[in-house]
Amino acid sequence: MAPTPLLAAAALMAVAVASWSLAEGAGDLRQPPVAQGLSFDFYKRSCPRAETIVQEYVKDAVRKDVGIAAGLLRLHFHDCFVQGCDASVLLDGSATGPGEQQAPPNLTLRPSAFAAINAIRDRLERECRGAVVSCSDILALAARDSVVSTGGPSYRVPLGRRDSPHFATVQDVLSGLPAPTSTVPSLLAVLRNINLDATDLVALSGGHTVGLGHCTSFDDRLFPRPDPTMNPDFLSKLKQTCPAKGTDRRTALDIRTPNAFDNKYYVNLLNRQGLFTSDQDLYTNAATRPLVERFARNQQDFFNQFGVSMVKMGQIKVLTGNQGQVRRNCSARNPGTVAGDLSWSSLAQTVGEAAAESLGF
Ligand code: HEM
Ligand SMILES: *[C@@H]1O[C@H](CO)[C@@H](O)[C@H](O)[C@H]1NC(C)=O
Ligand SMILES: *[C@@H]1O[C@H](CO)[C@@H](O)[C@H](O)[C@H]1NC(C)=O
Repeated sequence: MAPTPLLAAAALMAVAVASWSLAEGAGDLRQPPVAQGLSFDFYKRSCPRAETIVQEYVKDAVRKDVGIAAGLLRLHFHDCFVQGCDASVLLDGSATGPGEQQAPPNLTLRPSAFAAINAIRDRLERECRGAVVSCSDILALAARDSVVSTGGPSYRVPLGRRDSPHFATVQDVLSGLPAPTSTVPSLLAVLRNINLDATDLVALSGGHTVGLGHCTSFDDRLFPRPDPTMNPDFLSKLKQTCPAKGTDRRTALDIRTPNAFDNKYYVNLLNRQGLFTSDQDLYTNAATRPLVERFARNQQDFFNQFGVSMVKMGQIKVLTGNQGQVRRNCSARNPGTVAGDLSWSSLAQTVGEAAAESLGF
């Protein structure tokens, strides 16, 4: 049977689309597959207003303090990169969480972001009577709504994650989170372990279009010798904020539009105004440079890829079905559950402070 004109046209279009994306050297813009056990309508019956409640809370909180958006976005990133998106980052006593004051690493996650997650949890508890929406899903939704609230793209978030009763250990943190002093090869090595690629690296690093960094996260680029890849005017500006090594102050990650989710982060990199080595090297390195240039030129391309990469990141090693639990209190595992593996404190002795300090966060 001869192909119908419609089918033939569809086939031609498919060829055109395929060659277009090859020519553009783009990442794969198809939506990543939804992990088994997750779905877009997971709470349709059990908590139909869940997404709206998170959205309204975040919108309001960001209006009052735009820094919350950066805090919430980074919280989701840390959650997913360290032992998977299981809300372990929220556990009091976790090496990444708010109980970390016991010892390094000090990751400077915003306390206001933790408080926001707990406040959202309270609202959902009242609305849907009980522990229905997991803390890890709240993190994923709050990150998306933070992006939207600061002007970035929306994307659909697969839901149904379950929360882990296990703390993130210092070892998990050290191996899971790349340091800001990293260059592209070591960033890619970390991402490869969690099935993310160079396109994801460049797109996700665009999260640094909002928020703040401490001097200690980049002052190796100022002292003792300035990093020659840094724009000299940018260097003198940073030296005003951080006059000596170890200054306890913060500066914007995106010098152009510090509170807007846009593609100016990439424009900064073109002008050698990236704050961290891990940012600027995306432009220095020949493998990632074309994508930086493309995102700097075309904000829509960045937005599309950011949505795709966030969905990928948001599904790293998720717990589903009857794995894990839905925490009643996002800061503590449910009463009666056993930690199961090494707690933070037992690992602290084996990993040691020296290793944690070298993390440089
Ligand atoms: C690729 C490797 C990454 C490295 C090395 C890195 C490193 C850092 C560092 C060192 C800080 C500042 C901490 C401080 O000095 O207080 C920071 C802040 C931040 N990061 Fe990343 N990051 C990475 C990826 C990401 C990703 C994937 C996202 C989200 C998609 C993200 C979102 C943020 C945000 C929003 C802030 C600002 C937080 C605030 O203002 O409270 N980062 N990052
Ligand atoms: C950890 O970071 C917080 C927030 O920036 C800061 O107040 C605190 O002094 C730091 N603690 C250590 C031990 O560096
Ligand atoms: C949640 O857990 C944390 C950490 O154990 C605790 O400090 C806090 O009081 C708990 N909140 C509620 C509402 O029970």
